[in-house]
Amino acid sequence: MKTLDDFDVKGKRVLVRVDLNSPVSDGVVQLSGRIKQHAKTLKELSDKDAKTVVIAHQGRKGEEDYLESLEQHAKLLSEQVGKEVKYINFLFGSEVKNAIEELERGDILLLKNTRSWDGETENLTAQQHAKGAFVEVLKEYFDLFVQDSLSVCHRSHASVVGFAYVLPNCAGRVLENELKALDKVTKKIERPFVLILGGSKPSDYIDLINKYLEENKVDHILSCGLFGHVSLTAKGINLGKQNEFLERKKALDCIFDVRKIADKIKTPVDVAVKVDDKRVELKVEKLPSEYEIFDIGSKTIKNYNKIISKAKTVFLKGTPGYYLWPEFSKGTVKILRKLGKSKGFTLVGGGDSSSAVELYGIKGIDHVSLSGGALLKYLAGKRLPGLEVLEHV
Ligand code: 3PG
Repeated sequence: MKTLDDFDVKGKRVLVRVDLNSPVSDGVVQLSGRIKQHAKTLKELSDKDAKTVVIAHQGRKGEEDYLESLEQHAKLLSEQVGKEVKYINFLFGSEVKNAIEELERGDILLLKNTRSWDGETENLTAQQHAKGAFVEVLKEYFDLFVQDSLSVCHRSHASVVGFAYVLPNCAGRVLENELKALDKVTKKIERPFVLILGGSKPSDYIDLINKYLEENKVDHILSCGLFGHVSLTAKGINLGKQNEFLERKKALDCIFDVRKIADKIKTPVDVAVKVDDKRVELKVEKLPSEYEIFDIGSKTIKNYNKIISKAKTVFLKGTPGYYLWPEFSKGTVKILRKLGKSKGFTLVGGGDSSSAVELYGIKGIDHVSLSGGALLKYLAGKRLPGLEVLEHV
């Protein structure tokens, strides 16, 4: 696929899809690795005198981290780019048209959350999305579409595939760098290869684990976070109070798949539960517990870090615990620090994991991918509509 090196953007109107989806705490958007990295692409376009319009999403409608307005993101981007990123609380219509027409060379304008429009997330093909209102109305204003984020390319959403279908297009710097770094784990994997899977979306892991097991590519699969809880459940451990959370998050939907591979997955030997807002560690033998689990315990951290220290390749996706809460960040911080010191190739993926790297200033990780679900699909060899369409035009 083409990159920004293939286009002269001076004076051109460029539409850029970035992924600004970031952790939100009490309604406040946290400065994330995504915001920092995409800001560099935007700065490059601005420095090259392009007139840049940015489209992005935050959260999913109905979920806690959904924000209709991206005004906070525009402020954070402005600080990172070092110049004002203008914001308009519209996605299309005459307001957007006027704002685009007023853009001067070097200007950057961010539009409202793409998911504020229901048509955005309809699961349609690129060709169908290209005929939808959003793309139809806006496409005529642009000379180039830049896809800057791998992390949204697994979604066949209007802003991801629609514009790319009808406009000259290319990969932005963030996507370009991601794909280069991922070559290390898609071409030849140096062994021992350790997979550490945590976070809150366990069902996303099944395809990738099955692929690596079938191809005999992985030496250790270390489970933590919600995936650790599902894996413990698959091994017949009753977690107690935590079961309610797993049900709420629909985390047990993949339990049948996990049961089939449970003997290949290492599970925590201890966990940290929340008792009166304090961290209390419990051996797994002491479960079920009447308290919710928020982290892996100290013995598990030690066991996992021993395995990591011998690895030549490590891929971590999803945090081991609830890292935004200092009391329960121990598992996440200690494991990530260990990766930072590893002599092997280390790859960390997922929005939360990359944010944890930022938040705790972890150094030495070879590549921090900004992608979560998309990265897993990419590594599992699945088709990514957002990438396919870039090769289409
Ligand atoms: C992510 O956080 O992985 C991306 O922003 C995609 O978000 P989604 O899973 O809500 O589509």
